[in-house]
Amino acid sequence: MCGIFGFKGKGNVRGIIKNGLKTLEYRGYDSCGFFLNNKNFTLFDKKVGKGKIDELVLSLPFKIEEEVIVLSHTRWATHGQISEDNAHPHFDCKKEIVIVHNGTIENYQFLKRDLEKKKHKFISQTDTEVLAHLIEENLKKDKNIFFAVISALKEIEGSFAFLITKKGENLIIGAKKNLPLVIGFDGDNYYFSSDPIPIAKYTNKILFLQDDEIFCLDSKIKFYNFKKNIQIKKEFDEIDLKEYKITKGIFDAYMIKEIYEQPEAIEKTLKYFLDETFERLLKQPMPERIIITGCGTSWHAGLIGEYMIEKIIRIPVEVEYASELRYKSPVVDENTLLIAISQSGETADTLGAIKKLKGKCRIFSICNVEKSSIVRESDFTLLTKAGPEIGVASTKSFTSQILILYLFSLTYLFKKRKIDREKFNDICNEILKITEKISFFLNNNNVEKIAEKLIYKTNALYLGRGINFPIALEGALKLKEVSYIHAEGYPAAEMKHGPIALIDENMPVIFICVKDKLMKKVLINMEEVKTRKGFIISVCDFISEDIKKLSDDIILIPHVSNEYMKPFLTVIPLQLLSYYVANKKGIDVDKPRNLAKSVTVE
Ligand code: F6R
Repeated sequence: MCGIFGFKGKGNVRGIIKNGLKTLEYRGYDSCGFFLNNKNFTLFDKKVGKGKIDELVLSLPFKIEEEVIVLSHTRWATHGQISEDNAHPHFDCKKEIVIVHNGTIENYQFLKRDLEKKKHKFISQTDTEVLAHLIEENLKKDKNIFFAVISALKEIEGSFAFLITKKGENLIIGAKKNLPLVIGFDGDNYYFSSDPIPIAKYTNKILFLQDDEIFCLDSKIKFYNFKKNIQIKKEFDEIDLKEYKITKGIFDAYMIKEIYEQPEAIEKTLKYFLDETFERLLKQPMPERIIITGCGTSWHAGLIGEYMIEKIIRIPVEVEYASELRYKSPVVDENTLLIAISQSGETADTLGAIKKLKGKCRIFSICNVEKSSIVRESDFTLLTKAGPEIGVASTKSFTSQILILYLFSLTYLFKKRKIDREKFNDICNEILKITEKISFFLNNNNVEKIAEKLIYKTNALYLGRGINFPIALEGALKLKEVSYIHAEGYPAAEMKHGPIALIDENMPVIFICVKDKLMKKVLINMEEVKTRKGFIISVCDFISEDIKKLSDDIILIPHVSNEYMKPFLTVIPLQLLSYYVANKKGIDVDKPRNLAKSVTVE
């Protein structure tokens, strides 16, 4: 979704803004723009289209000795088409109030109609522009821009993070609700961003603005709670930004780098869980019922969690899309536990579902971003330690999420005294061994060769059973989002109830067939596809005469006997397959069309 980057200081402004915007590119964008503010001059430019940041920053000075303020932005269109008028920054009628914004102002149409009646002229179709005009209107009575912004905040509904400046004034104001805004200070210059990554290059002094907080920076920085109308004290923390200094290293794209990072992500998540979460989790009460929620890949992790939790600790689980749950009337009480899963911790629907059930049941989150909105809204958090995920497609965060769901189940099993600490430790050691198996597979596989056969296909089916059915869903999602090939995941037996009509020699069918109690059933489903001339790619952890006879291609993954650990291995070839197909088709896998990394609108 939209990215905000701001700067107040001196130096190589072009380089700083270019680095800031480029680092935010991963969030997804379709236009970009900036406004440079100084007492003596201003500069402003916008560009439409992806990949236009290099061109945009050419209008910024290479080096500047006077202090300047720059607001810059990458826009992912929500209100109004992709156009120069709709790109940020936005202005009031006099072009004095300048704003860049991430989020949605839900009552913007109502406010716009009112402002139009007061003769305000709008240039864009965006919700953001309304805020600039609202501040302009408030300035008629408030006189001071800071108070005019606070009055405007009381009128708007929705989620936001924004930066504002006023032409010719040495001033920058920013506020947030539900969406992130981070400030960095290197002793001379200030940096403002939607996440810490673009700031990490310059300083480790970071401050995370909290919901309902606003800052005003002129000669010094002051913080307020705009809801309570009080000034507050906030300090910059020195934080370890090592993990935010991210490069692609030897890889062509973040997606493939992150696929390869999975053994490390699993190890770090396990270590953090044992050191920081396990004892605290043990003290949590045993729920009678669990609802798991999330979106996309996180929802798929939830389906695996359902399988694990029901089988391991025998607590009933329902898995709900967050976008549906937030508008349902779920029956919950103090014995119900909601587990919200999110990599980013900012997904609007997941946050909406949490807010809907807050106070009605206990809320846990499984999240990769410690200071995120979802973590703040939860009663308890199980952090994944996958490290920042830059590629739009979730990969390493998925395997870390399913690891946490497994560890959650084992911890409650231990709490129920069904296993002792020794058994618990043995399983953790087994998990460490899987990381070696994943590494081995990553470095020894035939997936790239098989990917060649899919690049001209227009459809694919992914089939699996039991715990590997959600893996089939995840494989299909990965393929469609990065390679633009239509793909669907189904429980393998369900195929007979409709999708079988699609099968012919042009339909690749990717089967997950591993040694478990459903293996023979999967082989029957493969037979059904083969009879109809389907093109079968089998992902399996064994080779048999049947498998050889039925498969056009076989991807052999390492075998692991523990059924709950199989998904950690079955998902890897599917992630690789999507990456290689997309890469061979010349698609930018890290920024596939229309997608955004953290979906902060409904
Ligand atoms: C798929 C993908 C998305 C996300 C979904 C939820 O590869 O990345 O489907 O999983 O948007 O995002 P988080 O986990 O950040 O809540």
